[in-house]
Amino acid sequence: MSRLLNPEPTRDCPLCPRLVAYRQENIRQNPDWWNGPAPSFGDPNARLLIAGLAPGRMGANRTGRPFTGDHAGWLLFDTLRKTGFAQGSYDPDGHDDLTLVDCMITNAVRCAPPQNKPTGDEENTCRPFLIDRLAALPRLKVIVTLGDVSRRSILRTLGYPGTAIPAGHGVEGKAGAYTIINSYHCSRLNTNTGRLTPEMFEEIFHRAKAALKE
Ligand code: URA
Repeated sequence: MSRLLNPEPTRDCPLCPRLVAYRQENIRQNPDWWNGPAPSFGDPNARLLIAGLAPGRMGANRTGRPFTGDHAGWLLFDTLRKTGFAQGSYDPDGHDDLTLVDCMITNAVRCAPPQNKPTGDEENTCRPFLIDRLAALPRLKVIVTLGDVSRRSILRTLGYPGTAIPAGHGVEGKAGAYTIINSYHCSRLNTNTGRLTPEMFEEIFHRAKAALKE
């Protein structure tokens, strides 16, 4: 008998004490924010999954939608629209008609961590949701990982060691039935320093498109 999948934590997920304490502090300071695990966003029949790190405090933790209101969201949603994986307008408060096309966005850790840095324990505690997120996408074929934590987390989620596909922007490999394409994270640090340019990022999604056709 197949087990019931549980791809999304509850709004009041109690599993990580440090993240719960941070959430409670955010609720106290900003009661009108989302302040909970940011649910995965996109097409439930997607063939492409994009895996980020964790919600930013004033972005996805505020709006309740991955990357929405985070600095990284501008480049991500712009690039997804250019490459045909998104349509509609994007508003950093989430008051928009943005939809993802054949694509879903999730995070390795679903709650905002202090200083944007989840611990290894938090990654491990959140992993069952990622395992079920992948399992709940019946047509999933390609996974774009944003940053190194995401790359390792996706590989472990699929039962591989974190070294199975090496780090590096544009490095691509197979993990079981899935094609994994690594990208540098579209964070402010990477875009402001020129480590990741819009062209480099767009190229990743052209590659994802090509891999979907294989
Ligand atoms: N916002 C997210 O939802 N995920 C990230 O990885 C970064 C910002």
